[in-house]
Amino acid sequence: MKNSDFDEVSFLRRLVREAFESVKLMPREIKTIKAPSYYAFEFLLDYERGKTISSVRFHKAMDEYLLIELYSYRGVILRAKNGEPKIRVESSRQHPESINIGIKTIMHSYKEELKDMSLPIVLGVGDNYKPMIIDLANVGHILVGGATCQGKTNLLHAFAQSIYYSPRKVSEGCFVYYIDPKGVEGPRPYFDFYLTTMEEIRKELEMLCDKIEKRMNDTQLSRYPIMVLIDDLADFVITDKYFMDMLVRIAQRGHWAGVHLVVTSIPLSSQMFPGILKGNIPTRICFRVVDKYESRLVLDTPDATLLSQQGEMFFSHNGKLTRLQTIKTLE
Ligand SMILES: Nc1ncnc2c1ncn2[C@@H]1O[C@H](COP(=O)(O)OP(=O)(O)OP(=O)(O)O)[C@@H](O)[C@H]1O
Ligand SMILES: [Mg+2]
Repeated sequence: MKNSDFDEVSFLRRLVREAFESVKLMPREIKTIKAPSYYAFEFLLDYERGKTISSVRFHKAMDEYLLIELYSYRGVILRAKNGEPKIRVESSRQHPESINIGIKTIMHSYKEELKDMSLPIVLGVGDNYKPMIIDLANVGHILVGGATCQGKTNLLHAFAQSIYYSPRKVSEGCFVYYIDPKGVEGPRPYFDFYLTTMEEIRKELEMLCDKIEKRMNDTQLSRYPIMVLIDDLADFVITDKYFMDMLVRIAQRGHWAGVHLVVTSIPLSSQMFPGILKGNIPTRICFRVVDKYESRLVLDTPDATLLSQQGEMFFSHNGKLTRLQTIKTLE
C-alpha cells in the first residue's frame, strides 16, 4: 500500500469506528478492500444470538452520523445484508486509478470461467481489482441508467467487444445488434448489425419479434443467442409508441427464445417508462445520477448519487448491489 493510500484508509477507518461507537456498536473489522475507485470496509457485529442485522436498521442515528460525517468528506455507502451481522462501508477514493486493461486481455485470461457461458460479458472490475464477467443469457435483460456522459455507451461497446473476444464457439455462434437512433457511433467490427435509421430499426425489431414467436412455437429451431444493444431508449419512446410495443414483446418473451436486451437510457419518469417494460427487465445498472429519485427509478436505492467518477456504476441483480468500474472502450 502506498503512503497516501495508507493515510486515506486510516482516516476513513477512524471515522467509521467513531460513528459506530457513537451508537454503542463495537463491530469487529474483518476486511479492508481496495478497488480502483473506492475503499470498502467490512465489519462483523457481535450480536446476541437470534438478533440479526435488521436490528441495526433501527440504529438510525448511526446511518445519519455516518452519512453526515462522511458524506461531506466523500460519498460513503453503508450496506448490510439481511439476516447477516455484516456491515459494509464503501467510500470513493480521493485519487481513483484508471484501469489500463482491455476487454480482449480479460476475456483471454478468464477462458476457463467462460466455458459454460453462452453470452459472457465483462461488467467491469470491483473489489481487489477483480473483473466481473456474467452470462447475459442467465441474468435476464439489462436496463442501464445514468446521467449524460457517465459511460452508458462505453459499456455497450464493452459488451459487444466481450462477445467478439470470447472463445470462438461463442463469438461465431451468436449475433450482436447495435441500435443507435442518435446515429453517432458508426459501425464497428464487433457489431454484426449496426442500425440507425428508423426504417432499419423498425424492420429488424419486427424480424426479431417474428423470430421469437417462431422459436417459441417450434422448439426444434436453433436458438443461437442474439444480443440486442439499444443505445438510448428515450429517442425511441418519444418518436414512436410502436417501438415500445415491440420492445415490450421482446422483453417479455425474448429471454426464453435466446434474444437478450441491454437498453440504456437516462433515468426516465415512470410515465415514459411503462412498468410493463421495467418489470420484464430484472437486471439493472446505474451510473452516476444527480437525483436520488433517478437512482431509485433504476436501482430501487439512492446509491447511484454517491458515485463519483465516469465509468463507475452499480450492478443490481437478485437484490444484490455490486459496485464496479467499467472498462474503457471509447476514446
Ligand atoms: N470506464 C471508464 N473509464 C474512464 N472513462 C470513461 C469510462 N467510461 C466512460 N468514460 C468516459 O466518459 C465519456 C462519456 O462516456 P459515454 O459516451 O459512454 O457516456 P454516455 O453515458 O453514453 O453519455 P450520453 O448520455 O451523453 O450518451 C467517454 O468518452 C469516456 O471518456
Ligand atoms: Mg451515450
